[in-house]
Amino acid sequence: MIPPERPMVLPSVMSADMTALGGQLGELCAAGAQVFHVDVMDGHFVPNLTVGPDFAAAVARSVRPHGGLVDVHLMVERPGYLLEAFAPHADAISIHAEADPHLHRLLGEIRRLGCAAGIAINPGTPIDFVTALVGAVDYVNCMAVNPGFAGQSFIPTTPDKVARLRTELPGEVWIEVDGGIAPGTLPAARDAGASWLVSASAIFGAEDPVGAYRRLAELAG
Ligand code: DX5
Ligand code: ZN
Repeated sequence: MIPPERPMVLPSVMSADMTALGGQLGELCAAGAQVFHVDVMDGHFVPNLTVGPDFAAAVARSVRPHGGLVDVHLMVERPGYLLEAFAPHADAISIHAEADPHLHRLLGEIRRLGCAAGIAINPGTPIDFVTALVGAVDYVNCMAVNPGFAGQSFIPTTPDKVARLRTELPGEVWIEVDGGIAPGTLPAARDAGASWLVSASAIFGAEDPVGAYRRLAELAG
């Protein structure tokens, strides 16, 4: 699963029903979901506040008994202070290239803590920020929306950016696309070379989240 052998859909737990979290995640595991995406927002790097390490721990407790993994996406300034708190509940952690000047150091710290090390880049951030980190990075989270909220529209230039990343990066570095993934946008992201396709509202905003997950998973291949 890490690195992914084929494209897969990562439910983004941000939009789950918090009153029924364990059950919902268990159902998605039973439907085949293998990696769950946890969005951490600090109200500073992005204009929204979400969850902390205790929530990631709850997700891990729900999915790990089913063989599930946890991908933590840190949308916070100076993420280094939080790595030790999240690492026990994570299998992969991405930090934003825009959020700290010492990225090699932090990526090394993520690996030292036993997690796959990811770099996330905002839609306005050039791919050179990532190619400069080859050797230190396991995966790239190419944002398809400006981070901060679920339910935003997929920025249509994203597949082109993913394709350029795919050309520039070594094959072992995998690409995640996050934001606005739905049946109409997933195929272009996949065809451009993304193998982790993150989706919150297209799954949890649906009347039947498991059915919506299955439909996306089929499209992912
Ligand atoms: C956005 C988050 C995303 C978000 C995706 O800032 O990083 O992971 O949950 O939500 P949707 O799929 O609704 O765009
Ligand atoms: Zn995210």
